[in-house]
Amino acid sequence: MEWWQNQAVYQIYPKSFLDTTGKGTGDLRGIIEKLDYIKSLGAGAIWLTPIYPSPMVDNGYDISDYTAIDPRFGTMEDFDELIAKAKERGIRIVMDLVYNHTSDEHAWFKESKSSKTNSKSDWYIWRDAKPDGSAPTNWRSIFGGSAWEWCEERQQYYLHTFAIQQPDLNWENPDVRQALYDAANFWLDRGVGGFRIDAIVYIKKPKNFVDGEPDSDGKSNVHNMIAATEGILDFLHEFKREVFEGKDIFTVAEANSVKPEDLPEWVGERGVFDMLFEFSHVNVMFDNGEEFWHRAKPIKLSDLKAALTASQKATRNTWYPIYFENHDKPRSVNNFFPDDADKNLAAKALATILFTLRGTPFIYQGEELGFANEPFNSIDDYDDISSHGQYDLAQADGLSPEDALRAVHKFSRDNARTPMQWDSSINAGFTSGKAWLPVHKDFKNCNAEVEERDADSVLNFYRRLSALRNSSDVLIGGEYEELCHDSEEIYVFTRTLGDKKLCTVVNFTTHDVELPAQIKGAKKLLGNYADEKNYLRETEAAIYEF
Ligand code: GLC
Repeated sequence: MEWWQNQAVYQIYPKSFLDTTGKGTGDLRGIIEKLDYIKSLGAGAIWLTPIYPSPMVDNGYDISDYTAIDPRFGTMEDFDELIAKAKERGIRIVMDLVYNHTSDEHAWFKESKSSKTNSKSDWYIWRDAKPDGSAPTNWRSIFGGSAWEWCEERQQYYLHTFAIQQPDLNWENPDVRQALYDAANFWLDRGVGGFRIDAIVYIKKPKNFVDGEPDSDGKSNVHNMIAATEGILDFLHEFKREVFEGKDIFTVAEANSVKPEDLPEWVGERGVFDMLFEFSHVNVMFDNGEEFWHRAKPIKLSDLKAALTASQKATRNTWYPIYFENHDKPRSVNNFFPDDADKNLAAKALATILFTLRGTPFIYQGEELGFANEPFNSIDDYDDISSHGQYDLAQADGLSPEDALRAVHKFSRDNARTPMQWDSSINAGFTSGKAWLPVHKDFKNCNAEVEERDADSVLNFYRRLSALRNSSDVLIGGEYEELCHDSEEIYVFTRTLGDKKLCTVVNFTTHDVELPAQIKGAKKLLGNYADEKNYLRETEAAIYEF
């Protein structure tokens, strides 16, 4: 087993983690201060979302320099210290590589847009207008609005899969690819332990750009037109050869739309990456994975279980990142449990799954404290660029502003980006200044200090689960099998290695449910209720040993 298979990964959104200077946004020194806390969760790596210089239109996913640290987060010395202090604790630092696009403030783009003849003129995706002056295709960007932006200077449109300020790079140009590999190798030379690779399915564009089927706004989702285009794996194998191969690091790529059955092409020895974040379980409320927040349907448990089982099966001979949260998703207790479920029980129930499926558990900051969504009063309070796009899309689809805001409340990425809650002091101990996003109203009950003292807290439950998982060969390597698949109330699966067998049972409802027959006689190892009954109570989760 590799080091990244035996321990959890802790994801940090640095802007919201801990501010040590009073400016209202988190920084690298804040992360250094909390390394022991992260270690206590059994994490062997920290994934940092982008900390490079950026205009912050998309909070760092719009990068203007790939080989420097944004002064808001600190200095290169702080970064080196973070690597060193983390290493002392057996933790490696994993960086986010955002290689589908740069910021429009990147020097490469500034040069590229200046004329049709400069030395970087084809570093981005430029196209002429249609004869009537309109955009080359009807594609809608992921954040809403056209995926094309007119550039006066160059008299052409450029493609942006995400925000206008995030122009797509042209991977067909070998100089572009080399510049990206060099930047990744710069960080490897500084001692980073791996990479999370952003939005990788979009790097290869189709040969011909054609209009897609229009939706109610007259546009067609760019994702459906360019994701996982034929030929992408050739780029990715080169990327692997030039950057990752033979190094003691791990790679996890964000790859919305790679189907479970295609995973072997993408991960493991034959593939490119060690692991791949696919979205089937977190997008189970959207038809065909199409993220229109206002069109979300209630989750059918059997669909969620089918998605998890399909990924477990597809990565039987490779590896999988297990996650319910990240900086792009609402809080999992709201997402996967009924509104009336007890949030602490629900957080522990999801954690029980997180640590007992086969793969590396990814904990997203605050998840280990049981954070819930925090709806803001008005659309203007939202910083998240996609919340604004979705708000407009919902109204284009006929919803009232109130209903559109309700969809934002439920799915906004800001739900995951409110400041970490460290203690009961002002701003939850996150900053002595004005926090860049409002602190959760419930922070006095839900924070690291309070939970540290409570043996029964979500935080201490995470620690117990993580310790159990990291020392259990069955939980690390055992075979997965799902039971009771047709039940719309419980999720049951076993993990088996030789003659050892464990079983996880989770009641997703807020009423009592019969204990599955297969469990009778097994010994309960851990659960979110201390005692045991011969039925499952609301939101009950437990791990049994045979
Ligand atoms: C990924 C990131 C997301 C970002 C987008 C554009 O999906 O996780 O936060 O907005 O890529 O870079």
